[in-house]
Amino acid sequence: MNLTLPTLFIGQNLTYIKELPSTNAYALQLIAAENPPEGSIVMAGYQTAGRGQMGTNWRSEADKNLLISLILKPSFLALGDSFYLSKIAALACRETIAHFCPDAEVLIKWPNDLLLNRKKVAGILIENQLDNLKIAYSVLGIGINLNQFLFPEVLRETATSLWLQLGREVEPGECLTHLAVSLEKYYLKLKQSQLPAIDSEYLRYLYAYQEVVRVEIGGESLETYIAGVQKDGKIALQFGDKLRFFDIKEVKFVI
Ligand code: BTN
Repeated sequence: MNLTLPTLFIGQNLTYIKELPSTNAYALQLIAAENPPEGSIVMAGYQTAGRGQMGTNWRSEADKNLLISLILKPSFLALGDSFYLSKIAALACRETIAHFCPDAEVLIKWPNDLLLNRKKVAGILIENQLDNLKIAYSVLGIGINLNQFLFPEVLRETATSLWLQLGREVEPGECLTHLAVSLEKYYLKLKQSQLPAIDSEYLRYLYAYQEVVRVEIGGESLETYIAGVQKDGKIALQFGDKLRFFDIKEVKFVI
């Protein structure tokens, strides 16, 4: 892929590999081997062992979707603020998807899934490398469903793609161009410590924020009110007069 991105550093070092196990795994190998410049992107046409959140697999049809990993060096970020990487990745994906689908509802489902008209269109997997209690490297792995229109049976009800919304193809390179610009914009905001602006934009686009929803906690189906998201990334759920905080492993949303 020969692509010149209109950015300062995000994706200026772009490696395209037609098939590999996982762009995140590849990016982590690059980090171990050669200290790649900040902003390096690894892009693939197909992953044989794509990684999803919580040890799941990310399956994506060959040459249909956007599969990338972005290497950042956010050593300026306090460890306790690492959830901001999740927020900016989600905001950049949201902005990119909304650019292509201006008439659709594009929201972030906590912590960082992207919903297009209430169905999952993209996922993010962040893998950090720490050094002396600092984030030496962060790998932002992003998969956006672009041109795939058939999904495995288990995902058929819950997954979507830009093609299913628009009825036309979106080239992975064109999507990457917009995504790289957005990622750079939000990353620079983070670097300039514009945390309140990032927080309010994240909440603005957070699915069901300040709404009553049904969740599953410990196998039990409960109604709750989404009160907010903590600095450490935990979601704040209101049960009667009690506010409780959960991480991604502890709560499942029933959309
Ligand atoms: C999720 O479970 O929602 C996160 C999915 C993240 C998938 C992307 S595809 C590119 C990058 N490489 C991987 O192995 N995973 C991420």
